[in-house]
Amino acid sequence: MTDKKRESGEIIPGLEGVPIARSSISYIDGERGILEYRGFPIEELVEKSSFEENAFLLLKGRLPRKEELDEFDNQLRENRELKFRLIDILKSFPEQGHPMNVLQASVAILGMYYPIDDVEDEREVERAIIIMLAKIPTIIAAWNRIRNGFEPIPPKRELSHSANFLYMLLGKEPDEKMSHIMDASLICHADHTMNASTFTARVVTSTLAKPHAVIASAIGALSGPLHGGANEHVVKMLRSIGSVENVRPYIQNLIRSGSKIMGLGHRVYKVKDPRAKILQKLAELYFATHGSTPLFEVAKEVENYAVGMLKEKKIYPNVDFYSGIVYERMGIPTDLYTPIFVMARTVGWLAHWREQLEYNRIFRPTQIYEGEHGKKYIPIDLR
Ligand code: ACO
Repeated sequence: MTDKKRESGEIIPGLEGVPIARSSISYIDGERGILEYRGFPIEELVEKSSFEENAFLLLKGRLPRKEELDEFDNQLRENRELKFRLIDILKSFPEQGHPMNVLQASVAILGMYYPIDDVEDEREVERAIIIMLAKIPTIIAAWNRIRNGFEPIPPKRELSHSANFLYMLLGKEPDEKMSHIMDASLICHADHTMNASTFTARVVTSTLAKPHAVIASAIGALSGPLHGGANEHVVKMLRSIGSVENVRPYIQNLIRSGSKIMGLGHRVYKVKDPRAKILQKLAELYFATHGSTPLFEVAKEVENYAVGMLKEKKIYPNVDFYSGIVYERMGIPTDLYTPIFVMARTVGWLAHWREQLEYNRIFRPTQIYEGEHGKKYIPIDLR
């Protein structure tokens, strides 16, 4: 914010362009479509890294040595199971409950089973991180089984983080391509500078609330359709468009009525989101061997037509545009797309939790009061 704006008391809607922290976790160049984690281009990480290694990188600030990665991975594998009491709690939730609500509640519940007393104790911090990263995928998969009337499928220790999640969710070990695509998608979604949910995580961290409260709050922020919730809405929109011929009238209608097209637009990117490019390529790779979906053709036409219509506003596909299409083809229920985003982004939120604590000051912005002053209280029978 410029000093001039500060002096004039002008508010900055959506805090656009207002820096709220110094960070070395991720970096975006919105004009050139660049995203880096700890200095590494996202494209290279997607191609060469794994969920586990990328999580280590974001959390610790550097790539792990072989034995460090093995240790981190082992810890995740050892902590995947859920206590039967937590499974009992999941069974008591209403089966129509949205998985994001279930996840938000369950992460808060993890805070009761695995409390952390001292956020400055490195061992406690590491434990809290492992517990959340390891158990969130199990909670998502278990909830999907429970709401359909089945017992959860226990995790398989020999599978990687992504492969195990797909196994617990779909009841079948995924092939290599499927786990690679899930891994790549989790890497793509792991962090993204100061977005709404990360800012939420930072605000809650700044009160010295415990990490489970930090993550539960961030999950709430991510659930909205303007943020992570968009991936679910993209697929719903594509289904309701139905066919390539319907794209133009449907999009014209949305634009004319001033509605947003889900999965398009971004506060920072003024070009196509590099993650959308990666996910689109991965979708093509997956469909080449596993068969495509008509939604993919509809999506490409939406992109083609809407980008042309909204050229002057520099509106392009964001990360949420192509992710759901791949999940749909894998047989994953639509309302689990945003929870999968949570699996990935918890890494980034936890990295920001740690970074915020390094030089913490409680967030306490200000407001411009526009109400009245000094009013006289009128007893209820005289109003
Ligand atoms: N469809 C149509 N028009 C759009 C879209 C869209 N998806 N996105 C932005 N615009 C237009 C706006 O109407 C506005 O036009 P105007 O200047 O004539 O009023 C202009 O572009 C600027 O848009 P804002 O809403 O002011 O941009 P902002 O930076 O505040 O919002 C956001 C960014 C929330 C991502 C927005 O583009 C949007 O709502 N997109 C759809 C939802 C979505 O896909 N969200 C996921 C984002 S990625 C993520 O969070 C993981």
